[in-house]
Amino acid sequence: MRTKQVYKDYFIRKFSNFCRRYRLRTPVRNIIITLHAYDIIPKNAIGLDLFGRHGLWHTWDLAEICEHIEMWEIDPFYANHAKKFIPKANVQTGDSIDAVKNSKLLRNDYNIILVDNPNGPFADDQYCEHFDLFPELLNHLAAKAVLIINLTNDINAMNARDHYPNEFMDKWLERREEFYGKEMSKGESIVDYMNIYKQKFNEWNWKVNECFFSARHEFVGYLVLEIEKSY
Ligand SMILES: C[S@@+](CC[C@H](N)C(=O)[O-])C[C@H]1O[C@@H](n2cnc3c(N)ncnc32)[C@H](O)[C@@H]1O
Repeated sequence: MRTKQVYKDYFIRKFSNFCRRYRLRTPVRNIIITLHAYDIIPKNAIGLDLFGRHGLWHTWDLAEICEHIEMWEIDPFYANHAKKFIPKANVQTGDSIDAVKNSKLLRNDYNIILVDNPNGPFADDQYCEHFDLFPELLNHLAAKAVLIINLTNDINAMNARDHYPNEFMDKWLERREEFYGKEMSKGESIVDYMNIYKQKFNEWNWKVNECFFSARHEFVGYLVLEIEKSY
């Protein structure tokens, strides 16, 4: 069943690549074009994808522009598929958050990082969204880097579609309040989110040079930040 889904995703990826000639764009391809427009695309891109799956949804687009790309996926079934579909990637099978926290990543000069984290709490509530990656992830970056982070900007709209269990929502709200300093479930604007991230990076001694949001649905999208280490 899972294999069937993977090959369906492979077919969709091939089809969307074909559709590029008719100006259709996948989300990460669109971000790459925008990074070019802002003139902040890293020249020699050293990529890191922390939640890779089989790589067909988003990693594929990032891999295209990278000189080197490292990808982490915890599920060996998907990691093995990723090795086939993204031959350029150095695919690591394991827990990327643990790798970040315990310095198991292979390099410390990544300059474009994709964080397509699962929604809400995961791994038996050990982790939530991308919150547990910070600030340690910053120790593994080049002095200037682009972060592409999955951001749920309307948790209620997401819940209205997906109907999460109450305990899941309670835990999720608790973790969001802890990370953002407030609940962030009352229809806050994307500018409110950007301001919180800018302040957090500042506290971690990184400056946000540029920041934009690329929506994928009504309630989730990619927050893209060019950050630079302040000394
Ligand atoms: C939303 S998908 C990522 C899709 C991928 N970026 C692509 O382009 O196809 C999230 C993936 O993260 C994986 N995952 C969950 N927890 C993880 C962890 N701690 N470390 C690495 N991968 C993890 C899941 O198995 C799942 O395949």
